[in-house]
Amino acid sequence: MRTLFGVAVIAAMTVGTAAPAQQAPVKVTIAADGTGPRIDRNIFGQFAENLGTGIYGGVWVGEDSPIPNVRGIRTDVVTALKALKVPSVRWPGGCFADEYHWRDGIGPRAKRAVTVNGSWGNALEKNDFGTDEFFDFIGQIGSEAYLSVNMGSGSVKEAAEWMAYMTADPGTTAGAERAANGHRAPYRVKFLGLGNESWSCGGAYTPDYYVDEMKRYARFARNLNLAQNGTDNPAGGSVAGSDPMQRIAVGPGGPDTAYTEAVMRAWKGHDWAWSIEGLSMHQYTWVAWPPSFASTGFGEREYATLVKDTLKMEDMIRIHSAVMDKYDPEKKVPLVIDEWGVWLAKLPGSRDGFLHQQNSIRDAIIASINLNMFTRHADRVRMTAIAQMVNVLQAMILTDGPKMVLTPTYHLFKMYVPFQDATRLPITFDAGTYRFGDITLPRVDGIAARGRDGKVWLALTNVDPNQPVQIDARIDGIDARAASGTVLTADHVDAINSYDRPDTVVPRPLAARVDRGRIALTLPPKSVAVLSISR
Ligand code: AHR
Repeated sequence: MRTLFGVAVIAAMTVGTAAPAQQAPVKVTIAADGTGPRIDRNIFGQFAENLGTGIYGGVWVGEDSPIPNVRGIRTDVVTALKALKVPSVRWPGGCFADEYHWRDGIGPRAKRAVTVNGSWGNALEKNDFGTDEFFDFIGQIGSEAYLSVNMGSGSVKEAAEWMAYMTADPGTTAGAERAANGHRAPYRVKFLGLGNESWSCGGAYTPDYYVDEMKRYARFARNLNLAQNGTDNPAGGSVAGSDPMQRIAVGPGGPDTAYTEAVMRAWKGHDWAWSIEGLSMHQYTWVAWPPSFASTGFGEREYATLVKDTLKMEDMIRIHSAVMDKYDPEKKVPLVIDEWGVWLAKLPGSRDGFLHQQNSIRDAIIASINLNMFTRHADRVRMTAIAQMVNVLQAMILTDGPKMVLTPTYHLFKMYVPFQDATRLPITFDAGTYRFGDITLPRVDGIAARGRDGKVWLALTNVDPNQPVQIDARIDGIDARAASGTVLTADHVDAINSYDRPDTVVPRPLAARVDRGRIALTLPPKSVAVLSISR
């Protein structure tokens, strides 16, 4: 019996051996009475950048739009996102964050600056969707704010003033301005990103230069919402906050550990005046830059190649966790994977720089593999943000004018909701192998957890696009009497949901047999199943 970590290695060693036509059942053992780390709900976070139609058209349609909306924010998208219980939304970027000047996006819309989104296709940025609209949006979907401050073309003063606008008491000038714009109470800024990809689009800083700059932002971009954040000056008498903001520094975007080393070394030596509460990492599934894989009309080779590429996430987590462990063995600083997902070629006919792609069963399977990897590293990986929420990259939702469709990745995220804040349970299984040509991959993946509802939850992925997998699961520690759930699958690896056929890839009920504590089920080819087990 071996876990998935071992399997990647074992599978690689067995290249060339023929797969049996009929595979024996995969034995899965779950210690339902065991324990493990909490699977932080923030692992299921999302990213929404002012990019293409991610915000404009996808979230914001304006109050005068014939598309049903609440204060300009489209109702169909809000309703769909609410069901995902999105823990946090990262905004306004991405690369865009480092050219975003928050003052352009507040006050009467008719008077807002019209600018150019230089990062993304030189699109006109009318700034209709600014700070107050963002908070309205996350309030409507019931999520927390993860804002990125502009460390590229902005200043510490600008970042500090933005924080004051959002979090200061209405008795201050900044708070009064916010109140005049419709929101008297301070906003909750739960997460603050200190720059974005500062090694590249965020300013191309050396690690040491970034660290020196970042400390100033960590110090002065203050959250003034006293009830939430408290204060931190021991000489002045610190005040405890109920839920202090977490500052997230820029970290790696590849195997190079220079940023990880520099930021974590600085963190270890920090004094009371500044700190960070997270280190960012970006890791996309794109095989090679620039991304060239199609999001529609592909075959098994492209399927297997992308699945193989996504497993690099495991190496990335291990490489950077090892550096973090050196400086932070107690794992106080989470690794925040705040950009991940499948980045494919743009859809033919879509605008350059808008990163518009379709979303298939392949992408949902890849999402499950990533969420499972995050879960297995839940002690260090406590927050992530898939890129991105609507219409951009591996989106949950696609829109076209009034039309909206939920993608396979949306359904996968919805199936995984019970894992939010669940306790990971020990699980063992022999993953086996799936082969295509010279590509060898683990065939089965899975995680188990005890949900906040007290139930045992199991997620299983069959990577093999051709063969079903029989599962024989033994549940130790509880008297399992019933199991039910759903399965997401499709006839073809490139199956998508379209506006005309929105129900091609949707979860369907899964039949599972329970007999004396054992659960028998069949995972269809290329599928993800999530089931709850009750006693
Ligand atoms: O998600 C798209 C872009 O990818 C982000 O703006 C940037 O941070 C990354 O390079």
